Amino acid sequence: MLVDTYGRVATDLRVSLTDRCNLRCTYCMPEEGLQWLAKPDLLTDDEIVRLIRIAVTTLGVTEVRFTGGEPLLRPGLVGIVERCAALEPRPRMSLTTNGIGLRRTADALRAAGLDRVNVSLDTLRPDVFKTLTRRDRHHDVLDGLEAAHAAGLTPVKVNAVLMPGLNDDEAPDLLTWAVENDYELRFIEQMPLDAQHGWKRDGMITAGDILASLRTRFTLTPEGQEERGSAPAERWIVDGGPHRVGVIASVTRPFCRACDRTRLTADGQVRTCLFAREESDLRGALRSGAPDEEIAELWKTAMWGKKAGSGLDDPSFLQPDRPMSAIGG
Ligand code: GTP
Ligand code: 5AD
Ligand code: SF4
Repeated sequence: MLVDTYGRVATDLRVSLTDRCNLRCTYCMPEEGLQWLAKPDLLTDDEIVRLIRIAVTTLGVTEVRFTGGEPLLRPGLVGIVERCAALEPRPRMSLTTNGIGLRRTADALRAAGLDRVNVSLDTLRPDVFKTLTRRDRHHDVLDGLEAAHAAGLTPVKVNAVLMPGLNDDEAPDLLTWAVENDYELRFIEQMPLDAQHGWKRDGMITAGDILASLRTRFTLTPEGQEERGSAPAERWIVDGGPHRVGVIASVTRPFCRACDRTRLTADGQVRTCLFAREESDLRGALRSGAPDEEIAELWKTAMWGKKAGSGLDDPSFLQPDRPMSAIGG
């Protein structure tokens, strides 16, 4: 098992398949993109499947989420999912994507064994989408969402980040749209994980702001704590049900005490937390011929050192060296 000194057990593995992306969300990366990882530094498909196999068969991981960057840009994605679906015990598998290209791949992903998807969409207005992501692809995302739902990659969750002066007036419209289309909407507080280091606490739309805005149109009833488990989203029942809306308040209501995550970057580093400043190199061990047991031990040792929390409230908080797109969201 992947246990830490606070008694938390990591059963949820997030695997970043690439640091590249075809959008340029302003809260994530600059217009010109970033210095991408070089191909030889990326784990190969075989290396990824091997690490997931070790995690699932010997370390107690039960959930695998593929992230990026944008994971649909990874050519081998469907094959990786298919091979992981054949593992014993079979992990539950999900994907976090910006939705571009999902129209083309949703059926193949479902057939390969993917269970569900989370799609990022911050606005219903094409012009605002273009300003926010610096790309004119709003229609592709809506199309991708529809295809994912039709393919049975459900529940389809939609992640939205609200930015002041851009889309912070859209929360109720987004929820109306999500309820109509049977998507589970979650709002995410903006976190200091952007490559430009431009995040400011007082420039952030908080969970409190979001809930107040939603309550102008909806009646929200909190869901019980038991139903939440270790999920980062706190959820509310919308107008008596059955739909729910979530808020991921990593800044104002952190959920670190219940965290059950371990992360693998596209270049084979274990991270204990989005905000961790340390990484442990599994790629080096893989490529020097280490047996499974040794890799499992390295992973356990890394997780044992997991810190109590994100450290966001410490006066000495420092953003991690790598931005979210390189860590895996
Ligand atoms: P499910 O609830 O299982 O569907 O997944 P999820 O919400 O964890 O996955 P998703 O990739 O959609 O993540 C949504 C957001 O949750 C991310 O953008 C982060 O803001 C937040 N998040 C995910 N993992 C962590 C974490 O380890 N720490 C913190 N603080 N936030 C996280
Ligand atoms: N703060 C909060 N959420 C972010 N995302 C990307 N960067 C940030 C940030 N700095 C979101 C994306 C996606 C999810 C994985 O993370 O919009 O939905
Ligand atoms: Fe791409 Fe996601 Fe970053 Fe947007 S937030 S640029 S979709 S990695």
